[in-house]
Amino acid sequence: MVLNFAHRGSLTEAPENTIPSFEKALAHQPKGMELDVQLTKDQELVICHDAKLTRFNKNSKKMIQQLTWEEIQQIDIGSSFNEKYKGLHLCRLEDVLSITPPEVILNVEIKNIPVIYPGIEKRLLDCLEKYHRLDNVIISSFDHMALQNISKLHPALRLGMLFHYRILNTWKYAQASDLPIYSIHPNQVYVDQTFVQSCKEARYLVYPYTVNDKDRYEQLLSYGVDGVFSNNPEIFQGQ
Ligand code: G3P
Ligand code: CA
Repeated sequence: MVLNFAHRGSLTEAPENTIPSFEKALAHQPKGMELDVQLTKDQELVICHDAKLTRFNKNSKKMIQQLTWEEIQQIDIGSSFNEKYKGLHLCRLEDVLSITPPEVILNVEIKNIPVIYPGIEKRLLDCLEKYHRLDNVIISSFDHMALQNISKLHPALRLGMLFHYRILNTWKYAQASDLPIYSIHPNQVYVDQTFVQSCKEARYLVYPYTVNDKDRYEQLLSYGVDGVFSNNPEIFQGQ
């Protein structure tokens, strides 16, 4: 089965990683949906790609880790996308969990650059357990120590190992980590047939990111990838 993920919701249709973005994505009935999680000053799990909100609101200069959930709710991150989203603020992981049907596989990415959030793994698992989400989720991260922390707390959880740069023998690195890695999530720019075949022979699923071009998507499918992360509804919509 090919499993494609709506990347940060549907970020061409609404501000990325927000409730409207996830609602827009869900309207396309994707099999999977991806989001990025971080921790506020008061330890709330919030959904955001960047460590601060300046890209969405130039007046907001503080890091997410310096802001409380109460303060974050006062920061408009919608009007820079479109005036009709004026007043929109970040959402929490539990807000997304409460609107996502159980049949949609969530990929929760633990963000770690440039901030490492001590204790985020336990908070994440507690939240997923509360919403009965431990069986239909993939936890991914570029921070492989965060994956190790998740594995120690919940050995059966599906782990996605993210790779931004091309490294030598990615699949051997995953094997040598001794972690129960479920899937390899490489930057799509360097994925070729040999890469996919080697990962598959090592028994890893392969989900490249971020694949928006239809021709490139078809090419990756012909190499044998198991799905992709995409901003393009034509690619991530359920079939
Ligand atoms: O999880 C795939 C992809 O989202 C990783 O890169 O920078 O978009 O979070 P980024
Ligand atoms: Ca991400």
